[in-house]
Amino acid sequence: NLSVSWLGMKMSSPLFNASGVYCRTREELEQVRRSAAGAVVTKSCTLEPRAGNPEPRYRRTALGSINSMGLPNEGYRYYLDYAQAYDDAKPLFLSVSGMTLDDTLTILTELAALKLPCLPEVNLSCPNLPGKPQLGYDFAASAEALEAISRRYARPFGVKLPPYFDPAHFAAMAAVLNAFPLLRFVTCINSVGNGLVIDLDSESAVIKPKGGLGGLGGDYVLPTALANVREFAVLLADKHVIGCGGVKSGAEAFMHILAGATAVQVGTCLHEEGVSAFDRIEAELAAIMQAKGYQRLEDFRGRLKTL
Ligand code: DHB
Repeated sequence: NLSVSWLGMKMSSPLFNASGVYCRTREELEQVRRSAAGAVVTKSCTLEPRAGNPEPRYRRTALGSINSMGLPNEGYRYYLDYAQAYDDAKPLFLSVSGMTLDDTLTILTELAALKLPCLPEVNLSCPNLPGKPQLGYDFAASAEALEAISRRYARPFGVKLPPYFDPAHFAAMAAVLNAFPLLRFVTCINSVGNGLVIDLDSESAVIKPKGGLGGLGGDYVLPTALANVREFAVLLADKHVIGCGGVKSGAEAFMHILAGATAVQVGTCLHEEGVSAFDRIEAELAAIMQAKGYQRLEDFRGRLKTL
């Protein structure tokens, strides 16, 4: 039994897509909805549709992926329309990434007015907009954004965080987040921003935007993701942590849940394998649990041993 109940939602599986993967168009969203995934999250949306950065802007590598998509999306009305027509017990999340705080507030205000059973995942961590720093790396600006959101959106919501790399930063961000009771979940982590993948033969960067800099996913990021899940699960005692980063089999999904994740998103692997990845990873997770004698996710969630 891989089911998860949280925030009044029931998921038949802890796995779903990471925002950005299989969720830009209605057709992709429907593929995730009809798959073995336990939930669906939309591509981060802006007020207006965006074409995104010049191509090539995503490349697979031996250890994962690098991308600098630049927020290509159909504009928030498209995703609100999808949410309004959505008729499935599988929870739906709306990823929101306004180009400005005002844009994010406008989108959230319309979402609230529609009273949809659709939780926003507010993106504090897009690394791919030239000239725009990741909000989550500015603690004061993050606090201001969350205050404004809490004033305008009197409903439960979550945030997508960038990876942090220092205990002082985990503590500082946790203190910010703990001041907002309506903030019910954090998704850890977004891609590890601004890596540079170089092709030896051609002596070239492999993606075009930002001189080749892009967000890393896949094997590169698993230990960083697990550290962020673990630290925020401990520091945000009454909030949920959704794990994201480096999940490509049942083993990594198990590790995220052991570190404290309520549910687990799949990004790079889903991009490479398609929605059948959900069936495979779920079967592998179930086999690991059976071999270890665990019947439910709660039997091991957060029970990481330390030495
Ligand atoms: C994009 C990348 C991200 O990591 C994110 O959080 C939002 C958008 C992008 O490049 O499209």
